[in-house]
Amino acid sequence: MEKYYFINTYGCQMNVHESEKIAGILSERGYKETKDDSKASVIVFNTCCIRENAEDKIYGNIGILKKRKKTDKDLIIAVGGCMTQQNNMAEKLKKTFPFVDIIFGTHNLEEFGKLFDKKLTQKKSVIEVLEKEKEIIEGTPKKRTSFPNAWVNIMYGCNNFCTYCIVPFVRGRERSRKLDEIVRECESLIKDGYKEITLLGQNVNSYGKDLSNGTSFATLLNAVSKIDGKFRIRFMTNHPKDFTDEMIHAINSDDKICKCVHLPVQAGSDRILKLMNRHYDRAYYEDRLNTLRKIIPNSAVTTDIMVGFPTETEEDFLDTLNLVKNSNFGGAFTFVYSRRTGTVADKMEGQIPEDVATKRIMELIAVQNEINRNQSLNYIGKTVEILCEDYDDKKQLYLGRDEFNKMVYFFSETNVIGEFLDVKIVKAGGMSLYGELIKG
Ligand code: SAH
Ligand code: SF4
Ligand code: F3S
Repeated sequence: MEKYYFINTYGCQMNVHESEKIAGILSERGYKETKDDSKASVIVFNTCCIRENAEDKIYGNIGILKKRKKTDKDLIIAVGGCMTQQNNMAEKLKKTFPFVDIIFGTHNLEEFGKLFDKKLTQKKSVIEVLEKEKEIIEGTPKKRTSFPNAWVNIMYGCNNFCTYCIVPFVRGRERSRKLDEIVRECESLIKDGYKEITLLGQNVNSYGKDLSNGTSFATLLNAVSKIDGKFRIRFMTNHPKDFTDEMIHAINSDDKICKCVHLPVQAGSDRILKLMNRHYDRAYYEDRLNTLRKIIPNSAVTTDIMVGFPTETEEDFLDTLNLVKNSNFGGAFTFVYSRRTGTVADKMEGQIPEDVATKRIMELIAVQNEINRNQSLNYIGKTVEILCEDYDDKKQLYLGRDEFNKMVYFFSETNVIGEFLDVKIVKAGGMSLYGELIKG
């Protein structure tokens, strides 16, 4: 009888890719993927703890399985990822959800197979969360799920300790993969037909610093872009403090590299940026934007912005709003600050009431939406090259993205997933564009 697994993935692209590793490990053991969790005999939660609402959702979803576990004795439930990696969290999870079979962390994700095999031989649950990160383990099998894009880790961890952020606590210090390993992985992906590679790291601009052999993110971009074939290179996330002119020139050095930079600003007020420990001020950030746009005029910048950081005044918020109005971001992920235990900001006085933060984020979203609407309207009549990535059953249209990550829907009689195509934009709706395929 076929056996199936179902993975619930929360959080960032890093987690999306790590779920592909968990899938690879389970596939090696003969399990197949299902989209219907009621059919699964293994259910994995790959968790995120970046904000409180992410955690609340996960708690709810694990809790739902309690009833099923009572009757379905063979069901294996595993919980891993960033949430389990927090102080005392494994014990807390075990107490709250005694029916969970495996608890693992981010530092031993590569060993999930071993923990899984152990669980099959014993009734007791297997709980193993390592306090500290280990050396990078290469060669974990991966079952990729985002063709024609492939996620490629270039580094793990973060050294920045922004005062609001839990990531450095649950992901450990920066560790870069060896350049050769990354290039080899990319080469084999291109050989297998992948058309887009997204290089992943919490702060890709500091890639290589820990290798102490002169390798930098610029060297890496250069090496990956030398691989033969037509494909796109994306990368995320950039940290403004490390986004040097050298980085900008490296991005400009090859057509394969998308001129689309995710450069989280977080706030527009110098006072707040300082309290956040971001190591730059507004003028510096704006200089990075201007320099990028001068060197690469046809480029797009997306960003992350937070409102409601402790002590944020109306004036601070207006600084953020004003920065957004002036920056013409291609898109912005906006967040309400969420208190995270163990971080410096959690202990700060002047936490902002929820209703104030909510009002601010609504205002911010409205401003950015207007900018996006205008950008979309500007697209009408233009022809863009898109990489087709999927088919939308509801709309009965194919969809793809242009270099700047703008989503375009279009009709095609034949399956064109994985192909580069020219599409003429005819309509703009919300965040998406609609186009007509230009027959080549
Ligand atoms: N390493 C990446 C971002 C990782 S988290 C970077 O530095 O750019 C993604 C985004 O979540 C952050 O950019 C930030 O805007 C937001 N974020 C992080 N911690 C948060 C918190 N405690 N509350 C609200 N948003 C948070
Ligand atoms: Fe968090 Fe800052 Fe590191 Fe990004 S750079 S993961 S926001 S600590
Ligand atoms: Fe969440 Fe961990 Fe990513 S906390 S945002 S899944 S690094």
